[in-house]
Amino acid sequence: MSIAFFDSGIGGITVLHHAMKILPLEDYIYFADTMNAPYGTKTRDEVRSLVFNAVDFIVSLGVDAVVIACNTATSVAVADLRKRYTIPIIGMEPAVKPAVEKTGGTHKRVLVTATPLTLKEEKLKNLIDRIDNEHIVDLLPLPGLVEFAENFEFNEKIVSDYLNRELASVNISSYGTIVLGCTHFLFYRSILKRIIPSHIDIIDGNAGTVNHLSRVLKERGVSVKGGGAIKWYCSGEPVVDLKRLAEFELLLLILDAAGKV
Ligand code: DGL
Repeated sequence: MSIAFFDSGIGGITVLHHAMKILPLEDYIYFADTMNAPYGTKTRDEVRSLVFNAVDFIVSLGVDAVVIACNTATSVAVADLRKRYTIPIIGMEPAVKPAVEKTGGTHKRVLVTATPLTLKEEKLKNLIDRIDNEHIVDLLPLPGLVEFAENFEFNEKIVSDYLNRELASVNISSYGTIVLGCTHFLFYRSILKRIIPSHIDIIDGNAGTVNHLSRVLKERGVSVKGGGAIKWYCSGEPVVDLKRLAEFELLLLILDAAGKV
């Protein structure tokens, strides 16, 4: 079976990486819309049309399911994507529910970080309205992390300077949980962990998304396995450039190493 992962860029590789651990025998397609990244600072209409183009292309490859491994794309397009195709479309949203469940009643707050567009969208507002009865959720856009990731900038000093600047606008010790509501942010989890007080938990939606994918595949009874291969695409073109392919593979290794620390 072939499962496609789609993101504006390299962020969705963090979700693919998790899926490969849980479903190691599937074949994978990874589509990064790198020519059009970042999405999170564009308008809703711009991102919707980019997402439809990309997912039309991905579906034309004959995949069995598509994971929208991008909170921004999910928030503006997932409902319409599900109407458009018959194969499963798995979306993702910031893990606000587990964060509020964990932090509610502790006198601490929840900080949801994501792209500016995800934070502006109705989908997130509705989710927070439903769940945040104690009014403990605050929002913080971190578009700089997407830029860093797309530029392969993993220098600890540069990234932590940016994070320290952005976090200066909030009272960091008042938080019990920080939600990483953008798949690109997961590359910077360990740097964030080092600069925030040790009582703060950091959570993301990757495991929840992959569990959901695995449930949906089981329900559909799709059981033909592949060999665990990955085909990489950038904005509609198969990636043949060896340097680029090596970069993608390197990101999977960086995530492997991060998981072992
Ligand atoms: N990785 C994406 C997300 O999860 C989008 C980042 C961007 O393109 O701005 O929101």
